[in-house]
Amino acid sequence: MYSVPKLKSFSEAALDKAVEKLLATLKTESKAVKNEEDWKAFRDRWMARKNGVLTQINDLWLKASPKDSKRDVGQRVNEIKAKVTEVVEGRQIKGISRAAVDSLEFRDSVRAEVTQRLDITLPGIRRPLGAEHPVIKTMHEIVSVFRNLGYSVQEGPVIETDYYNFEALNFPPNHPARDTQDTLFIARQESKPQRERLLLRTHTSPVQIRTMEKMKPPIRIVIPGVVHRNDPPDASHSPMFHQIEGLAVDTNITFCDLKGTLDHAMKALFGSSVKTSFRPSFFPFTEPSAEMLVSCFICGGSGKRNSEPCRPCKQTGWIEILGCGMVDPNVYAFVDYDPRKVSGFAFGMGADRIAILKYGVDDIQLFFNGDVRFLEQFG
Ligand code: DAH
Repeated sequence: MYSVPKLKSFSEAALDKAVEKLLATLKTESKAVKNEEDWKAFRDRWMARKNGVLTQINDLWLKASPKDSKRDVGQRVNEIKAKVTEVVEGRQIKGISRAAVDSLEFRDSVRAEVTQRLDITLPGIRRPLGAEHPVIKTMHEIVSVFRNLGYSVQEGPVIETDYYNFEALNFPPNHPARDTQDTLFIARQESKPQRERLLLRTHTSPVQIRTMEKMKPPIRIVIPGVVHRNDPPDASHSPMFHQIEGLAVDTNITFCDLKGTLDHAMKALFGSSVKTSFRPSFFPFTEPSAEMLVSCFICGGSGKRNSEPCRPCKQTGWIEILGCGMVDPNVYAFVDYDPRKVSGFAFGMGADRIAILKYGVDDIQLFFNGDVRFLEQFG
């Protein structure tokens, strides 16, 4: 039986001879492989870490070689390793007939055959199923409630101009109402006229204007989207969050339509037993404006949960859920609508806040820091 010889000389001729002998042995031994057991023994003889032929040539040829032959020897050892691996792997194929393997013996096609073969006995690769993000899921739910009422969906840019985010929504330049929205401005816009300066939209309301510019009444739209404000992150604030806006403009739309629509939407979202309530508020683009509250669907409006104070409603039994109002006639002037002929209502709500309430999450940051262990609970 062949054993790796110690080399007396490292001359090219001596190396050629030794390599030739080794490869001839590889070929003969490979041909003798008849079944899986043979193959395992063959593999171990050549490739076992401890005392396999490859390990031996490493020790007896490469390590023992004088400095000036190391490169040459190293290269040959690498070639031998590649060939041995190829032959050993080639013999492993079970379905190919021995004659076919023999005839292909040292050919690359054997290797290709090996790698392309599908071994259905191997364990599968687990591909974890993705799930909708809880905030996106909530947004889809809200949108679908309004879709069922005949609303369509509009979207607009996240980087917005001062004009659409403020001016056309009846926030005049320098008006204190702008201070209610801690705005993130894009740098180096000072050379532009104020209305063209860019900012990250602070709400989805600018899409009301963009839609009314391109469509005539009747309008029934909802606008889901991302907004930004200069709020430091904490359990209830995030500089990036989500809103859903709504707008209905037509002839003879009244505050009754607003109340009926939103009351229906809240029942569809939180269950038919929730009650709604409105209290006066202010937004520059609606007149009158209101805040809508829903009876707390966590404590059922009692302000207490298991005799503990109910946190989400701060024991009041009511939760502020959105801002709304009748579209201010000044806004129609920006979009060439005639306020004597049309009227409408608008509303806007925070999707993240609604998701927090729906799922009983106590920190908004959990939605955005991408921990799969948190997110997969919603799958
Ligand atoms: N854009 C307002 C905000 O982000 C929310 C809002 C209030 C939207 C009243 C409306 C509305 O359309 O009518 O604070």
